[in-house]
Amino acid sequence: MFCIKKIANDLVWVGANDRRLAMFEGVYSVPKGVAYNSYLLLDEKTVLFDTVDKAVLSRFLENIAAVLKNRTLDYFVIQHVEPDHTAAILEIVRLYPNAKIVCNAKTLSIIKQFFDFNCDERVHIVKENDVLVTGKHKLNFIMAPMVHWPEVMVTYDSTDKILFSADAFGCFGALNGAIFADEVDFSKDYMDEARRYYANIVGKYGVQVKALLNKFDTRPIKVICPLHGFVWRKDLSKILSKYKLWSEYEPEETGVMLAYASIYGNTENATEILASKLVEKGIKTQMFDVSVTDASDIISAAFKWSHLVFASATYNAGIFVSMDSVLADLVAHNIQNRTVALIENGSWVSASGTKMKEHFLKCKSMNILNETLSIKSSLQEQQLVQIDLMADAIKKSMLK
Ligand code: FEO
Repeated sequence: MFCIKKIANDLVWVGANDRRLAMFEGVYSVPKGVAYNSYLLLDEKTVLFDTVDKAVLSRFLENIAAVLKNRTLDYFVIQHVEPDHTAAILEIVRLYPNAKIVCNAKTLSIIKQFFDFNCDERVHIVKENDVLVTGKHKLNFIMAPMVHWPEVMVTYDSTDKILFSADAFGCFGALNGAIFADEVDFSKDYMDEARRYYANIVGKYGVQVKALLNKFDTRPIKVICPLHGFVWRKDLSKILSKYKLWSEYEPEETGVMLAYASIYGNTENATEILASKLVEKGIKTQMFDVSVTDASDIISAAFKWSHLVFASATYNAGIFVSMDSVLADLVAHNIQNRTVALIENGSWVSASGTKMKEHFLKCKSMNILNETLSIKSSLQEQQLVQIDLMADAIKKSMLK
């Protein structure tokens, strides 16, 4: 049985939710599931925007058939070729043989890498600012390279001021009966997932996200239809203001994320004492044990907070394995413009502090504090003064 949602007068959501997937893209946990969005425009011509992941293929095809009824599909816009949005390409091509595939030249080349069918004879290639008139609606195609892949484009319906935003403005989490962000308490229940999605999926590409945002300075937007998560029709500034901060690598909040890798609890203990002293100074904190936390949560928190503390045991003359992995991931996601403090532990040799610093020296605009702490096995009482100095330095750096 189909499950569809009306988005606007001529627009219907025909996507589906997956609550069985453990790891999205094999790397990001999705405990609240994930939505694959696709939209069908019913104008004089009919237009399908993207498809879904193979896990929800049959529901998606039922949805399209239910919305089209006896009509044919005229256009099939492919904004992004990543397989979580193109798994149904072959079925759409087979079921709707008259549908023209609308995409850019880069998209066409990537489609050919993934799929084996004669795409050339039914493709309609578009480039920046090309317009497709479908009757009442005018679809403007706007290139958005690297938000998230090089071929990505978005579509702006200048008639209804609707932005089909591809991966931009997406969010982890299944939709649970809602479709609009204003039908849930988004700030309380979903903003963390929107940030985690942004930081991990497009966080590396802040420059490109900002370039896309700039293209909409003179184009009013009433509705945002992303490929994952909720549709925005009210309070768009709530998500647009976050995207401005995130794309500029500006922290959302002044406060400290503390992440530790501890083997027997002594590195954890030193981090906990530092956190306690920070809170006594009125500073907000959030703590993670990297060995039991999804790296995507730590990357997301690093995009949120202004100050980052990393504490690691020394392991094989380097950084503890779970911490080494998360730091490499964080640097790869282009984290910048943060103040960082480091704590190392080593029972016979301490190497993790120097090695952690090497990670952050690859980042732009990082303020790495001189106040460090080096523990030998466990924190000694005389070292409490060093923790006080580190807490003071963090507080002082917040006042600048
Ligand atoms: Fe949800 Fe980049 O695909």
